[in-house]
Amino acid sequence: MAEPQFTDAIALLKADHRRVEDLFEKFEGAKSAERKQALAHEICVELKIHTLIEEEIFYPAFRGLIEDDTLDEAYVEHDGAKVLINDIEAGSPDDAFYDAKVKVLSEEIKHHVHEEEMPSEGMFAQCRKTDVDLVALRDAMAARKKELLAQAKTDGLPAAKPTAVNLLAA
Ligand SMILES: [Fe+2]
Ligand SMILES: [Fe+2]
Repeated sequence: MAEPQFTDAIALLKADHRRVEDLFEKFEGAKSAERKQALAHEICVELKIHTLIEEEIFYPAFRGLIEDDTLDEAYVEHDGAKVLINDIEAGSPDDAFYDAKVKVLSEEIKHHVHEEEMPSEGMFAQCRKTDVDLVALRDAMAARKKELLAQAKTDGLPAAKPTAVNLLAA
């Protein structure tokens, strides 16, 4: 078997964060509609998979072991991002507000990543103080991620589903 790519679950999630930050940066510099659409799609796929593995595997492993508020706010922040992700996926760079939506999504993600990675009080810092097996979590998330990446390539991923926020009918 190949050497695991990341030392533990937190290293895996942080690498996802860096990859998506890099994609947002590339989007800022993109000129053509084609390139913007391709980058935005890549960002949305990355974020859908990342939020899924966190919500299915990582966050539940720490419920009751770290601050409830930290976890609750993370779900709500994910839901806020999902609204923009689905909207961006359904649209195209010629639409009004398209660049603004990508920009605001990047700002929301930046805030959220800070909440997760912030030293001492942040979610990951709290998680490190528990005795949850971060290597087992890494393996579970890597397996699920592989499955979702394959799905993204073949059938495409379904729209992101909010977990905590109730969407009112328009
Ligand atoms: Fe994250
Ligand atoms: Fe998150």
